[in-house]
Amino acid sequence: MIACAGLCSCNKEKLSERIYNQGINVIPAPEQIAQGSGTFVLDKDASIGISHDSLQPVVSFYAQKMRASTGFGLPQKEDGTIRLTIDKTVTGNEAYQLRVTEDGVEVRASSLRGLFYGMGTFLQLLPAEIESPECVDGVEWTAPEVEVTDSPRFPYRGLMLDVTRHFISVEGLKKHIDMLASIKINTLHLHLSDYQGWRVEIKKYPLLTEVGSRRIDEYGKEYSGYYTQDDIREIVEYARERFITIIPEIDVPGHSLAAIAAYPELSCTGEKYEVMSRWGRFPVVFCPGKEVMFEMLDGIFAEMCALFPGPYFHIGGDECPKEVWKTCPHCQKRIQEEGLWTDSKHSSVDKLQSYAIARCERILKKYGKRMIGWDEILEGGLAPDATVMSWRGEAGGIASALMDHDVIMTPASGGMYIDYYQGNSQAEPFAWGGYVPISKTYSYNPVPDTLVQMGKEQYIRGVQANAWAECMYTEDIVEYRVYPRILAVAEVGWTPLKNKDFADFSRRLNNAAVRMDCRGINYHIPVPEQPDYCRNHVAFTDSTVVQFSTSRPMKMVYTLDGTEPGLQSAVYTEPLVFRENGTIKIRSVLPSGRMGIVREVEVERQTFLPASAEEPEHEGLRLRFSPTRCLYVSEMADVKEWKDSILTSIEPIVKLRKNKYSGVEFYVAVADGYFYVPEDGIYEFSSNNTRITVGGRLAVDNDGKPQINSKYGRSLALCKGWHSIKVEQISNFIGGWNSQQRNDGAVRFRKYGEQAWKRITADQLKYN
Ligand code: ACM
Ligand code: ZN
Repeated sequence: MIACAGLCSCNKEKLSERIYNQGINVIPAPEQIAQGSGTFVLDKDASIGISHDSLQPVVSFYAQKMRASTGFGLPQKEDGTIRLTIDKTVTGNEAYQLRVTEDGVEVRASSLRGLFYGMGTFLQLLPAEIESPECVDGVEWTAPEVEVTDSPRFPYRGLMLDVTRHFISVEGLKKHIDMLASIKINTLHLHLSDYQGWRVEIKKYPLLTEVGSRRIDEYGKEYSGYYTQDDIREIVEYARERFITIIPEIDVPGHSLAAIAAYPELSCTGEKYEVMSRWGRFPVVFCPGKEVMFEMLDGIFAEMCALFPGPYFHIGGDECPKEVWKTCPHCQKRIQEEGLWTDSKHSSVDKLQSYAIARCERILKKYGKRMIGWDEILEGGLAPDATVMSWRGEAGGIASALMDHDVIMTPASGGMYIDYYQGNSQAEPFAWGGYVPISKTYSYNPVPDTLVQMGKEQYIRGVQANAWAECMYTEDIVEYRVYPRILAVAEVGWTPLKNKDFADFSRRLNNAAVRMDCRGINYHIPVPEQPDYCRNHVAFTDSTVVQFSTSRPMKMVYTLDGTEPGLQSAVYTEPLVFRENGTIKIRSVLPSGRMGIVREVEVERQTFLPASAEEPEHEGLRLRFSPTRCLYVSEMADVKEWKDSILTSIEPIVKLRKNKYSGVEFYVAVADGYFYVPEDGIYEFSSNNTRITVGGRLAVDNDGKPQINSKYGRSLALCKGWHSIKVEQISNFIGGWNSQQRNDGAVRFRKYGEQAWKRITADQLKYN
């Protein structure tokens, strides 16, 4: 049924005149594009013609999309307005030529994939609303006259989604696949097993999902999810129709605890473990000394190789803690039998890891697959035909290419870890760290100069971004981190270096944003940040000036009356001056009118807090400790039994666990005393402890939040001298983080105007 048909041509709104639809907005930018002066208009009489019946899937795909948004019938006709032709003279499996004139549209390619990409580019020449799943009535669908000759810079352009730490539903994956296909990403790598979960059904080993797909946190709450083999077939087929290959990853021999929880015989000791509910690395790994381990991997790989038709299989190989192998009799026997002795290049346990990886490669070859591994697989010697994913910088990739091995570049340092913060951590929703603004991702060049000089650049097969999911608790936040940075990756992987232009890419993103709106994607919009010191609480004594900018140029709107800023709110044009208390609520606005998340900054007029009249008597702080389990500070009021002692510095308030595997030790601790402020000033505080109070006023408040990279610090105007301080620490478990995991116990401070944070040191602490 056609819901609408743009019947009248007299009063049509020109969508193409909306600012985000102006110019050419293709992402990734093509190899060559020449624009003419004419315009093609897609109207109700448009039709599609194909040179051969085998082109039907591509035509159906796009006809369906365009019918939905335009309401036009788009019937198939031999001499269609839009013509798709297989043309063997267009060289390259992904290449295409596209010609748009006033009279029609012609796409030529030697493959279906090329035609798919050519049509994808044509859709990007039309107004962004062409992606709408619903009919956009009464508009003129125009595309500029162009001639495009296009093919990718690299054959491999990928995204890795970590579905172990947080699962993504089949529908969620399809949404990613649709979007990725539209930007010519051709590989989706699924990280399917880790310490925290096993996410694919294996018929021969049912406990892998029965046990391995569920984790129970320290409060007894279960988290679970996995793909059945039918789910996998559905996802693989959906991706195939969009010319995306799915690469499965089973991470061995480290990052394998979920499988060990299901089948303890896989590890060195055979001990029973639970699937891990916290983030981090743990010294429980597969035992390459045991034949049963390889037999099970064979069974797992056999089923998975049948499910995933692509050429590659990823075996992980990263971050394997090898300490246990040094004392495992099975591992030691293997080292003896195989002569894996330490030499000048490699240790025996590194060679044992390489032995395990090489055996994985032999199993995979039997099932017709090529093996990929993270760059650690180099450490004990590289398996014969392995492809290496270089994530710890480019060194592993360079070393592999020099040995004539294929390489996928995916360095965290090159902006390819798109779970990292994409703006200032004070302004962004919680992530576990890092800083990768989209400009950094965009500027990455996967071919190192060294390889060009050595004539080995052809081994760089492409580029991939990775989205690790420890801190991506929902599918929405995965989308927020992945988009739009993956659009930058698409251009890194496709567009010739000489055509890349970040300013123009930023402009094109405004059009891409509307397309993502049509798909319901929760993409990131730059959040207003203070360019000098980004903080959410600003203290001042006379007056202060608060300035905002965004990571790419963007309109900002704000309110000062506590209401939510909207399109009608004041537009930020110059720094805001305050003489009294205030609350700034500010957000960015895209040319489409879509707004980003609201940033809230509290501005507070303070008077300098006088210091204590007398110097406290004793060095150190008073400590009250109780091995009681609390989640929030408010619950500490009910703690009956405290053990009192004296602390000589703040740091030992955090009791570090000895055994990294063991669970959280729950306790509460409160340190009380005085802190010496070296000079009058406005001081900002930071700590990963739960709460810090100075002079009776809140200085840090992480209550109820994961206690890593604190962003809940406040500022205080303090006179020189001794001020009361209270440090409260709850050892708990929030968002997969043990509050001791990333907490050194320190309280840091800095005076306004200073860059560097200082720790409060032992000689600054006293009590009465
Ligand atoms: C990795 O980030 N461990 C590959
Ligand atoms: Zn072992």
